Amino acid sequence: MESLKVGVIGLGMGRHHIAGYQGHPAAQVVAIADVDEKRLSDIGDKYNIPKRYTSPEEMLSEEKLDVVSVATPNKFHMPLTIAAIQAGCHVLCEKPMAMNAGEARQMLAAAEKAGKRIMINFSYRFTEQSMALKAQVDAGILGEVYFGRTVWHRRRGLPGLGGWFGQKELSGGGPLIDLGVHRLDLALWLMGYPRPVWVLGSTYNPISSELAKASNAKFDVEDLAVGLIKFDNGATLEVEASWAANVKESELMETRLYGTKAGLVQRNYDETYKFEAEIYLEKAGAHFDMKLHPPMQPVPTAMAHFIDCLLNGTPHTATGEEGLLVMEILDAIYRSAAEGKPVKVR
Ligand SMILES: NC(=O)c1ccc[n+]([C@@H]2O[C@H](COP(=O)([O-])OP(=O)(O)OC[C@H]3O[C@@H](n4cnc5c(N)ncnc54)[C@H](O)[C@@H]3O)[C@@H](O)[C@H]2O)c1
Repeated sequence: MESLKVGVIGLGMGRHHIAGYQGHPAAQVVAIADVDEKRLSDIGDKYNIPKRYTSPEEMLSEEKLDVVSVATPNKFHMPLTIAAIQAGCHVLCEKPMAMNAGEARQMLAAAEKAGKRIMINFSYRFTEQSMALKAQVDAGILGEVYFGRTVWHRRRGLPGLGGWFGQKELSGGGPLIDLGVHRLDLALWLMGYPRPVWVLGSTYNPISSELAKASNAKFDVEDLAVGLIKFDNGATLEVEASWAANVKESELMETRLYGTKAGLVQRNYDETYKFEAEIYLEKAGAHFDMKLHPPMQPVPTAMAHFIDCLLNGTPHTATGEEGLLVMEILDAIYRSAAEGKPVKVR
């Protein structure tokens, strides 16, 4: 069997990439890179990876790799993705695709020039439930989707106060670019990725700014963001994301879509990362609630899906083009918030 040689850069979330590839019989994780030497050696030992580099650039020049995962802080997604592409690799890049749409465009241009692929790890698509919902929506159960609301709120869930997530120059933004990006992609994917035209956005940070001040931590991004997106097909989607808000739930994820024939909701329950989903419809004058019930079709990990598509020459989901469209919407929400008025999506 043909097998693909893989390298993984950034070993926080990157360890899940290693596990995902190691679950595929035709993927071999031969090298890893992280600037943190201890993490590099711990993860290298745990997953039994032979080659370890503190410099990703050195890994790319020393190893003959087919696929590279980029799972570093957001600031490095663009330079490392482009470096990997120029070293002859296809890239699975973590979300958000980049710091902004301009960077995402440069990544796509590099991939096109080199004839390589970019996939974005929109991991919330890769669940049995999300795939089952997508199949229903694609089969037309909702009719035309004209409104949606997709949210991820946390009561107090700032990732590592003082670390890179809260520093704009390293992250590109706060919970909108970190959490909102997942719920936004899920809603857009179910809706068939309509073209965004207008956006009205607001950002706030009353809670985190106080927490950061109290602990003398650097924090210059929002702790809550909201965006209202208008698409060229007439549909409207609302996205909300927070790391700190005065809500009951410690973790609240919910995506609702309203269609002409039915509506759907997917949400987490018990404040965990477990989800339930329902579809609401009317038949012969009666209203029905359909609950999605296990077992469902098993789904591959994002890593296994990417490897399969590369080996079979089939298109992959969560494309760089979709990643770019998400970045264009996020940019517009931040711009609208800064300008205090609705803006056109570029
Ligand atoms: N898809 C998901 O569900 C999901 C979940 C968590 C994080 N993420 C994404 O994964 C990325 C990493 O987040 P994280 O939570 O793992 O952060 P993290 O801080 O835990 O890990 C990042 C790692 O990258 C290393 N690193 C930093 N700069 C580097 C460089 N230039 N070269 C090589 N290594 C470098 C760090 O030493 C660290 O080990 C982010 O883009 C984040 O948005 C995605």
